[in-house]
Amino acid sequence: MFAFCHLDTGAPIYCKVTIEIPNRQFMTSAESTAIFTRSWSLYDLITEHNYMSHREIYTGVEDLLRLRSDQGNYHLLDLGCGNARYLAPCLKRLPPALYEGVDLSEAALTEAREYLAELSGRVILTLGDLLHAVESTSKTWNVLFTGFAIHHLMPDEKARFFQAAGRCLSEKGWLILVDVVREEDQNRESFLDGYLKFMREKWTKVPQDQLEEACTHVLDHDYPECLSTLREMAGAAGLNSTRLISRHAQHHTLLFSHSA
Ligand SMILES: C[S@@+](CC[C@H](N)C(=O)[O-])C[C@H]1O[C@@H](n2cnc3c(N)ncnc32)[C@H](O)[C@@H]1O
Repeated sequence: MFAFCHLDTGAPIYCKVTIEIPNRQFMTSAESTAIFTRSWSLYDLITEHNYMSHREIYTGVEDLLRLRSDQGNYHLLDLGCGNARYLAPCLKRLPPALYEGVDLSEAALTEAREYLAELSGRVILTLGDLLHAVESTSKTWNVLFTGFAIHHLMPDEKARFFQAAGRCLSEKGWLILVDVVREEDQNRESFLDGYLKFMREKWTKVPQDQLEEACTHVLDHDYPECLSTLREMAGAAGLNSTRLISRHAQHHTLLFSHSA
């Protein structure tokens, strides 16, 4: 059973959606996700060629989820779910009782509905801002998942994200964070130089104009942190355990929890 609803009003959405932009912060989020809102096909092309190591990363995420003792009975909130193309197969094998995906891209959510169609548990897809979603949820979640989305937030927003995660995670809950991470002694400019070089050298199957569109998106909207900053923010939110699960080039999978 699918519910597809607007985050602020809770109104069901089954057809065309208008996203209201109530304040500047939401406007910033909307701008940073415009590339995903216009069309999902460029990101799909990038992941189909495994340029961001989705295959290895999501195999690792499935392995992690398999370790949980609340199999079949856990609640998972996916923040910046996109079309859930890579998480959906993991969840089919390890079904949560409740899955909620939040994203600002209507195009992505429309696809997510298809990818998640075979999940046995309840599925909710919400069109809205992920920070607002995690700060306003009244539920307690066993797993918070976020894949390649948090780097769009500014540092103060990331700190708020961790505070909210610490509040709404169950005692044995996990925050699984997949994202680009800077080296300890690397500033944003140097990270972006390296990442754009990596894109231009390795992403050879992406047509030139689309590659440049992706590079512009990264330059304008990516604000990755280094691991120590993420650990500090998590610790300040009561998430005292930080584990590096995997690293594929700049792409990291991190696991945060209240205790080890
Ligand atoms: C690079 S895609 C990642 C999709 C998927 N999680 C994955 O791992 O492949 C980033 C997604 O996060 C969403 N996103 C980024 N910032 C967001 C925000 N503030 N609120 C909601 N969604 C956001 C984008 O719309 C996009 O669908």
